[in-house]
Parts: sequence; structure tokens; C-alpha cells
Amino acid sequence: SDAQKGGFKHFMLKEILEEPDVIVEALRGRIKNGEIEIPELDFDKNYFKNINQVYFVACGTAYHAGLVGKYLVEKYLNIPAQAEVASEFRYRNPVIDERTLVFVVSQSGETADTLAALRLAKEKKAKTIGIVNVVGSSVAREVDKVVYIHAGPEIAVASTKAYVAQVEVITLSILHLAKIIDKLNEANEKLFVEEFQKLEGFAREILENKEEIASFVSTTKNIEETFFIGRNLDYALSLEGALKLKEIAYVHAEGYPAGELKHGPLALITPNSLVIAIDTFTPLSDKTISNIKEVKARGGKVLAIAKKDNTRIKEVADSVFYIPNVLDDLTPIITVIPLQLFAYYMADARGLDIDKPRNLAKSVTVE
Ligand code: AGP
Repeated sequence: SDAQKGGFKHFMLKEILEEPDVIVEALRGRIKNGEIEIPELDFDKNYFKNINQVYFVACGTAYHAGLVGKYLVEKYLNIPAQAEVASEFRYRNPVIDERTLVFVVSQSGETADTLAALRLAKEKKAKTIGIVNVVGSSVAREVDKVVYIHAGPEIAVASTKAYVAQVEVITLSILHLAKIIDKLNEANEKLFVEEFQKLEGFAREILENKEEIASFVSTTKNIEETFFIGRNLDYALSLEGALKLKEIAYVHAEGYPAGELKHGPLALITPNSLVIAIDTFTPLSDKTISNIKEVKARGGKVLAIAKKDNTRIKEVADSVFYIPNVLDDLTPIITVIPLQLFAYYMADARGLDIDKPRNLAKSVTVE
């Protein structure tokens, strides 16, 4: 109802604006005396030492959150990791056993494919961790350990604040596990603790500048197709940015690894193309900038999302939306916000039914 929308035009906008609070809630009780701890994940060190692979299974936006987890597991746990959509995982023969740890990510906890993937993982004796929003949902009840994201009810079909909380909780969980196996040193933990605490303010700062996104959209609202490109964590974000735009603005969008452009899609770039280049992951920034130049050379228009301290980006992109100087490994938690706003304003400019996009349901409980 209008009352529940709290004066906002759409639930989606309301939920995006709640993200700074969501960031705080997801962190609550998980940093104590300057230490990261997820009490729900009370694994025994010896048990955990035997884990030899990690999976993230989920659908849609939750899968994109899992993809972030894959990169961070490789980096901080040094264990082979994969992220896979549940509808594929469940119909393969995933080679997993009791030494496999499976993260099951779901806002609703009721997605049919995700639930089936979870049951398959358990049949094969894998250990399962649920990253779930809805308390007491099927996924939450069936996993070995559940870590709630505490994002509060999400009404809009397009998931926004749940992604923010999922990525945050997945990151905290991985760092917690890294501590169990002595792979996170004190200095690194201290750095993370400090940087986690900055995220709320960073999110507020981005939201204060939301009109910049709205005005960019007003110049491109008739666009018919877009590419979202990025590398590493920015690649995971590019998939999520593209999904948001497809589902609510009905604009064809593709998320692509920036380095993969020249292996095909560059053929599609013309002066009519819009490319959203995500360049927040500093170690690979120069590489992404080279890819932006390739797009510019074909006449494509580029909107870049970059950190404030990125001095080179304004020379190559047509427009830049700056985000605060977030720690590289935490970038998805806040960089997703301008991507969500981009989709939101694009859908609004086109007069679409933002909270209930055509053909979609909030929770896909049948296959
Ligand atoms: C997100 O915007 C989508 N509408 C959709 O991809 C969703 O994330 C997916 O269906 C998974 O839902 P779940 O998190 O409730 O399992």
C-alpha cells in the first residue's frame, strides 16, 4: 500500500534508500572488540582444515552475490571456489562430498531451484551454510548453519538491499572462516574492521548524489542496449547492473568481463552504444581503462563508475560517477548502489511498473 511505501514513489526506491541502515544491521554483533566473528559459523578448526572446495549456489541477484564470494574465497581461504546458478547445479553431477562447503544464498529462502540444489548438496554429504533473509524459510531450516542477513522485508521484485546485505555477510563469513584456519593476520583483520565501519557513511554519500545518476539517465533514456563491463569484483557487479536494467527497465543489457570484449562483443559497439564501465577494483583499473579506450575508439558512449582517487578515468570516459575510496575487497557492497539507481531512474523515465515488472515474480517457488 501507499502507507507502507513511506511516502516514496516505489518500494524499490525506498529499499535502496534503506541500504545505509541495512549495512549497519548486517554488521551488528559481527564485529566485537575489534574482531570479526560470525557466532553462527562455529566450525571446528580440524573439521574446516579438511574442506577442499567451496561452492556458492543461488539464482539471479543472489547468484551474483555468490560470485563475489567465489573471488574472496580464493583470495582469503586459498581454496578452489565456484559460483553456479542453482538450476544448472541441480541437474549436473557436481563432484562434491563431505569435504565440500556449499553456500546457499537466497533472499526469500523459498526459491525452488535453490532449495533443490541445497538438497542435492546434502545428499552428497556436503556441509551447507545458508545466507538468507527471510527468517524460518525453507532454506534457513534445511541448511546446516544459517547466517541471516537482517535486511528486513524486501517488497520490490527487483532485489536491491538484499544484495547489499548478502555480499556484506558473505564477506564477513569468509573472513571469519579465514580466521579459523589462521589465514587472516591481525593487521588485515584490523584494516577490514575499520573499512567495514566506513561503509554506512559511504552509502549515504552515494545516495546524496543520486540526482547525478538521474540526470545522466535523462540524456540516454531511449537507449536500446547496453553493456556493463568490469574485471574481478567489478565483473560480478557488471552482471548485477545488467540484470537490474533488464528486469525493470526492459533494456537489453549484457554484463561482460571487460577483458573479454575484444573476443566478440566489441563488434556490436557503434556510436549508438552505451557502455557502463565499472572501474572500482584498483589492482585492475589500468586494464579496464584500456578496455574503455577500445570502446571509445568505436564511438561508443561510456559512463564510468570509479573511486574518487581514480585520476585517469575522467580522461577516457564521457561521464563518471564517483564513489568514495572504499577498500577494494568491499567495493561491491556500495558500488552496486549507482547501478541500482541507474536501472531505477531508467525504468521511471520510461513510466514502467517498477515494483512489479512484467513476467516476473518476487519468489520463484516453482521450477
Ligand atoms: C532479483 O532482482 C530477481 N528478481 C531475482 O533474480 C532473484 O534474485 C532470484 O529469483 C533469487 O531469489 P531469492 O534470493 O529469493 O532466492
